[in-house]
Amino acid sequence: MTKTQIINLFSDFIKIKSVSTDKNLFSEIKKAVSFLSDFLSKLGFSVKILEKEKAPPLVLASLIKNRNAKTIGIYGHYDVQPEDPVSEWKTPPFSLTLKNGKFFGRGVADNKGHIIQNFVAIQRLIEAKKLKNNVVFILEGEEETGSVNFEDYVKKAKNILSKVDVFYLTDTGMHQKNIPQIFYGLRGIIYFELTIKIGERDLHSGVYGNRVYNPINVLADLIAKVKDIKTGKILIRKFYDQVRKIPKDELLLLKKTIKSDKEEKYEASVFGLTEIDSLGSLSSKILPSFDCHGIIAGFIQEGQKTVIPKEATVKFSFRLVEHQNPKEIESLVFDFVKKNIPKDVRWELKCLSKSAPFYTDVNNKWVKKTERILREVFGNEVIFNRTGGSIPAAEIFQRLYKKPIILTGFTLPDDNIHAPNENFDEKMFFLGIEALTKIYEA
Ligand code: BES
Ligand code: MN
Repeated sequence: MTKTQIINLFSDFIKIKSVSTDKNLFSEIKKAVSFLSDFLSKLGFSVKILEKEKAPPLVLASLIKNRNAKTIGIYGHYDVQPEDPVSEWKTPPFSLTLKNGKFFGRGVADNKGHIIQNFVAIQRLIEAKKLKNNVVFILEGEEETGSVNFEDYVKKAKNILSKVDVFYLTDTGMHQKNIPQIFYGLRGIIYFELTIKIGERDLHSGVYGNRVYNPINVLADLIAKVKDIKTGKILIRKFYDQVRKIPKDELLLLKKTIKSDKEEKYEASVFGLTEIDSLGSLSSKILPSFDCHGIIAGFIQEGQKTVIPKEATVKFSFRLVEHQNPKEIESLVFDFVKKNIPKDVRWELKCLSKSAPFYTDVNNKWVKKTERILREVFGNEVIFNRTGGSIPAAEIFQRLYKKPIILTGFTLPDDNIHAPNENFDEKMFFLGIEALTKIYEA
């Protein structure tokens, strides 16, 4: 493929609005599935599409040439996060734009660009008749909504996936330009939606203020009880009980990955940082966290309105670290809400998704080979790191198939994933293809 052909392919993929959280865009999810299966079929892959009602399908494509050869699994997700706030994009979100040495568009980094890199690498090997390994692509369309059906799909694909010798997940990024990383840990995540209702209609706050519960105040009170803003600690009973203590030698290794406050402030474009246990930038990787993502309640138009709304909803999640068990955390959170909400207020707590933390050993020949190639291609030592982000597939593959999992990726810290102006550095994109080609060839 020429550079223009690669860019055209990438551009066709970015045009598809495969936002998994928006049910109205299910037809776009289907378009992405066709895009992927068309490309892979043309390359000679045998493509299976696993479907469940209303769920984004899993694209499973295999090219098995030689039963005695090794089989490489390549994971990616074709769904993306919503593009909002649209007004903050400098280029149209669903159109690939190459500007100042960077590709822009929703999904360029997370994860469509990485899928394209993998496609090009495999195609190159096939064209050059250098592909000795068997290859299986596992491409899901609901990673950004918690991979709710992934485990089911993956179990159904057992006859193919049990032959995979190593799983590559290229859904993370580099430490800095030209400094590659391999990740050995991810946080898990459990996502909730809590709605509380005080009655059947909105009320005048003068007539009823003091006499009825205000659902926003009740939610605010509850949220404030979950986490101590000063110490950064989560206050739910037993929440930290299973958290694994990081041994000194791992902590020493991780120190190499620490970013200065100045660097992190710059990368995140924030005015200040919070500090937990003097861990600096490590706190978002090795400790669990709690965050609210949105509150739906009351009067949010311009001007003022003196109302006590009848209900309020908050979306929030906890990031989990090993060995926290999502099911146990779910019941602790349920008990916590139950205990802390005033009686006579109706409430409903929904768990939208949950996935376990991931942690793996990096002492195996696949990791060593990958490390060597990354070092050669990028000209720098590889950093072994953990990230606070989550990719449910990693822990699921590990638990079900017990094979090495290699997590890497080629975007830079300012890739703006999930935010406006998501981008992928052009040089790192093409060097990444070179690296993947060598990795899959060997
Ligand atoms: N690619 C990210 C995970 C990631 C983020 C890795 C940052 C390394 C650095 C992935 O697509 C993602 O965003 N996952 C979601 C999963 C969730 C919705 C279940 C996440 O972490 O929020
Ligand atoms: Mn993502």
